[in-house]
Amino acid sequence: MSDDLLRHEKLFIGGEWVAPRDGEVVASINPSTGKEWATAAYAGVGDIDRAVEAANDAFRGPWRKMSGTDRSNILRKLGDLYAANAGRLAELESRDNGMPIRDSRAGIAGHAQYYYYYSGLAANISGRNIQMDPSVHVYTSREPVGVVGAITPWNAPLQTVMWKLAPALATGCTIVLKVAEQTPITAFELAKLADEAGVPKGVINVVPGLGATAGAHLVAHPNVNKISFTGEHRTAQEIMRGAAVNLKRLSFECGGKSPHIIFDDADLEQALNAATHSAFALCGQSCALGSRLLVHESIYDTVVEEISRRSKNVRIGSALDPATQMGPQAHSEQLEKTLRYLEIGKQEGARLVTGGERISNLGDGYFVKPTVFADVTNSMRIAREEIFGPVVGVIKFKTEEEAVNIANDTQYGLVAGLWTQNVGRAHRVAAQIQAGMVWVNTYRYLRYNIPYGGYKISGLNRENGSEGLEPYLETKSTIVNLTGNYADAYAQ
Ligand code: NAI
Ligand code: MG
Repeated sequence: MSDDLLRHEKLFIGGEWVAPRDGEVVASINPSTGKEWATAAYAGVGDIDRAVEAANDAFRGPWRKMSGTDRSNILRKLGDLYAANAGRLAELESRDNGMPIRDSRAGIAGHAQYYYYYSGLAANISGRNIQMDPSVHVYTSREPVGVVGAITPWNAPLQTVMWKLAPALATGCTIVLKVAEQTPITAFELAKLADEAGVPKGVINVVPGLGATAGAHLVAHPNVNKISFTGEHRTAQEIMRGAAVNLKRLSFECGGKSPHIIFDDADLEQALNAATHSAFALCGQSCALGSRLLVHESIYDTVVEEISRRSKNVRIGSALDPATQMGPQAHSEQLEKTLRYLEIGKQEGARLVTGGERISNLGDGYFVKPTVFADVTNSMRIAREEIFGPVVGVIKFKTEEEAVNIANDTQYGLVAGLWTQNVGRAHRVAAQIQAGMVWVNTYRYLRYNIPYGGYKISGLNRENGSEGLEPYLETKSTIVNLTGNYADAYAQ
């Protein structure tokens, strides 16, 4: 790939590439270097209006008239194109967001399967027949909710888009995609593939832009029927308020402060590998991090020592270097936020075992050392607030009951991990943890057919699996009087 500036200075609206009307063109920064590497069009509120209109036209037009099988074929084609372009998409993603190329390649290679999976489901959407007495015929049908505003974050740009796009297309919704302002580039490339796959004009509109203007306008727009959002829970709260205007349907995937529990009967070697990986993957910029490491007192010192040793061995560098295991923070604001929390952790009395500062010898990139805090208590801010950086806090527990209590003593409830060789304990603890996904003797196992989403402030509704279709569907019940005599039916 050449090092010339990549220019994406047009929005994708109604199947056409158009210059922003009241938006702007901005630089996109490569966080491995801190330098501009691409330009991107941002939508203004007028551009959002245009995109919503195009999505409404497409919803009423050709898309609504297609069968589930037609949509299924298009999704399969999109999956094929995606697979054929995975290498290029991975490289663009790594440049824009700083994800290590080994992670973006492995992750994006698996994305086609999501499109194939929802291609299968698209041809299988059906209602049911409800048995009544012979005077009536009653059935339900499932209909797409309409125009979906999809608002996505910068930490895993293509993945978070796909988790919304695939089910929305499967159900026959149309989409206005407001991707994150920090990482807009790959969504433009996805628009090209969708066009090539035969997605009709206006079904997908790509309009990156600022949250406070483009995002908020989309949320408040009366002709948008649903918002599907991934990002911070405070933004979700604002979206809930803005979306009240027409009671939009809502799906949220917000953050986590997930407990990762190591019991004294765990296979320690494997648990330590998982604990290290789950703390520092994507430079800590994942909602599914095991950022609170809960460790039994009998193995506490060993775990602190071992996880620190491993974190010093993490290979840090440019996202495009195939050897890199941990890249930079995705943008300068996130870098500042993480550095702020490193100071908070030190001030509130956690014991800094390793890391705790920016890496200064890697140029202007946004690199931070993998950081381990020990002697963390669950009341500390570094244990309660999502940092989104490569920071793990190790918390000591004595009993299983105490581990469960600490695990649940949080506003969040996205995921949890636990390590034990006692099968009874595994199921007992899994059942008590308030989270949408629990991993036993594994971590970060995510697939297209497994529902994902949070309890409490970690989210609303589920993505992936057949459950992932539900938030994009309305249910209509139709009751037909078979008697020809209204009074008879009424008399029931
Ligand atoms: P954010 O929630 O502000 O941004 C996510 C998306 O929402 C972006 O597309 C943004 O433009 C949009 N947005 C922002 N304000 C909006 C508004 N008022 N109306 C409509 N859309 C709006 O997240 P941000 O500020 O980028 O990151 C802050 C923190 O949030 C991170 O440090 C992390 O803790 C958390 N986060 C969690 C994510 C997750 O996957 N669960 C993803 C991104 C951030
Ligand atoms: Mg924000």
